[in-house]
Amino acid sequence: MTSIPAGNAGDGDEKAWRLPRLDEVESRLPARIDTSIPHTARIYDYLLGGKNNFAVDRATADAIVAAIPDLPVTLQLNRLFLRRAVRYAARRGIRQFLDIGTGIPTAGNTHEAAHEIAPDARVAYVDNDPIVLVHGRALMTDAGPGRITFTQADLRAPEDILSAPEVLEVIDFGEPVALMLVAILHFIRDDEKPHEIVARLRDALPAGSMLLLSHASFDANPNQGRKGADGWKNASAEMTMRRYDDILAMFAGFDLVEPGLRTHWNPDAEPDHPLDTVENVWGYGAVGIKPRGVS
Ligand SMILES: C[S@@+](CC[C@H](N)C(=O)[O-])C[C@H]1O[C@@H](n2cnc3c(N)ncnc32)[C@H](O)[C@@H]1O
Repeated sequence: MTSIPAGNAGDGDEKAWRLPRLDEVESRLPARIDTSIPHTARIYDYLLGGKNNFAVDRATADAIVAAIPDLPVTLQLNRLFLRRAVRYAARRGIRQFLDIGTGIPTAGNTHEAAHEIAPDARVAYVDNDPIVLVHGRALMTDAGPGRITFTQADLRAPEDILSAPEVLEVIDFGEPVALMLVAILHFIRDDEKPHEIVARLRDALPAGSMLLLSHASFDANPNQGRKGADGWKNASAEMTMRRYDDILAMFAGFDLVEPGLRTHWNPDAEPDHPLDTVENVWGYGAVGIKPRGVS
């Protein structure tokens, strides 16, 4: 097992978000931000070494890590997947990214990874947690006007996302789009039909579009994984870890690019990273391309 330093795993990008701790500005937060229930975005932020979280989030995250001690390393690997997948798409000509389940800004955000390859790339960020918008608006000023937007919307209502004015401001659905569902679909329960949601979004994309998707899995150890997922029971969204085949099925209507659905996803043109050799990974990632002739 390779040892990874705590905190954000930047592959050369050590830029830190210099925003105050959320606790410090709690009295100035919009009333709709609920600080009494653990929120997935803030739990994730804490597990990545961020400071945009409250005591309830930290307590929940600590309980989850007690069940799955190596989960934070998987989350760092997921961030590495995100950056690699975005650069992969940008290298192949994609200039617009629809990133649903954005999370609180951290090192190596989607627009930063895309702009490394294509400074003219545009990103529509979408998340259902208002805290992400609060931080996103600060992020937007950094990225320059007209290139990224933030929308508060829910993945379970894909039509709302596809018709949101802020999404349509930067995404032209007549041109190939990278649809990003990175570490979000495990917050959609089976009865909410995650595969159908992905298919509805896929059908709105033209040929040549890509699906960048990662998902938590308990394949490494089902009993341990279930205990960890239980930690989310009282949070803003439950966690449904899934098996390899179930996650693979989300790519229906897309051709997987090499190296397929992997715990450690590394396409050509990306250098190795210390995270590439970690063991006990609690999830998979892959990129698919929508071929011609699929509507
Ligand atoms: C684990 S974070 C992933 C952040 C980022 N995509 C990444 O992989 O680093 C999951 C994000 O999805 C958001 N989320 C969860 N359920 C959602 C839903 N139904 N609709 C929109 N966003 C959702 C959470 O608020 C959180 O910001």
